Amino acid sequence: MILKWPGGKKWLLKEVSHLISQKINNYIEPFVGGGSFFFALTQQDKLLPSYIQKGYLSDTNQKLINFYSELKLDPAKLYRNSIRLINNHTEEEYYKVRDKFRKNPKAHQFIYLNRTCFNGVYRENLKGEFNVPVGRRNKIAFPSQDYFNLCSKSLSNFEISSCDFEETIKKAKKGDFIYLDPPYVDRPYENSSYKTFRKYNAKEFNINDLERMVEACNNLRDKCSILISNFSVDLVKEYFKKKDGWNFKETEKTTFISGKAKGRTKVKEAIIYNSL
Ligand SMILES: C[S@@+](CC[C@H](N)C(=O)[O-])C[C@H]1O[C@@H](n2cnc3c(N)ncnc32)[C@H](O)[C@@H]1O
Repeated sequence: MILKWPGGKKWLLKEVSHLISQKINNYIEPFVGGGSFFFALTQQDKLLPSYIQKGYLSDTNQKLINFYSELKLDPAKLYRNSIRLINNHTEEEYYKVRDKFRKNPKAHQFIYLNRTCFNGVYRENLKGEFNVPVGRRNKIAFPSQDYFNLCSKSLSNFEISSCDFEETIKKAKKGDFIYLDPPYVDRPYENSSYKTFRKYNAKEFNINDLERMVEACNNLRDKCSILISNFSVDLVKEYFKKKDGWNFKETEKTTFISGKAKGRTKVKEAIIYNSL
């Protein structure tokens, strides 16, 4: 895992790897986030599987995408600059780096803040400034230089961009594989609805965005293989029906999307796909 990121889907790979066709053209992931699924998939044998060689990765978080671009381009330099910050880490240094990052964000500051902030979440205020306080862990886990190199290799033939998911989906052609992992919808908690963490960016992903995504999926479902993950709740079931060509599979998973104990309840996750 190169970054800590809420909603990471490394666990999903073992549930779906048998569903992924070995004859895909482009691999497309428009909500790439911490890339847990992408890196797990492309590093299964420390090598890119021959069927996943190129494609498009994107996310609205521009600083995240800048991090991936630097990682792809020069992993050794990025590692050197990041480890220097990690080795000097104190609470005081954290806030100094956070101030610099707010004025002029750099990729090495991004991963340093990600690894040392509270709960590894990325959250911005309305001005679009990273506003997570320092974490309280004594020991900081940081990936090795070899792992930086491996991730850079995974990214080497991928076009990486910062944009809304629809822009990336528009690039899909016949035979492409699209994995969509949008921010989770809310889920029921006791007798009410528990608001899920969705505020990855100044602009929160909302129900209109979800509906845009559903429409885009329906337009592409006869052309591409599509895999979608979310909570298995009525709202999501309503959007993806068998009669429209969607398979809906439930899995049990304890999610740690919320820092609050209340958010750590066992919730069923949904795996939705057409004929992959
Ligand atoms: C659940 S996370 C993805 C996690 C990722 N699949 C993984 O395995 O690490 C959802 C991501 O969607 C991004 N996002 C939110 N709204 C978006 C939009 N309109 N278009 C593209 N990305 C968006 C967030 O920045 C966040 O990184």
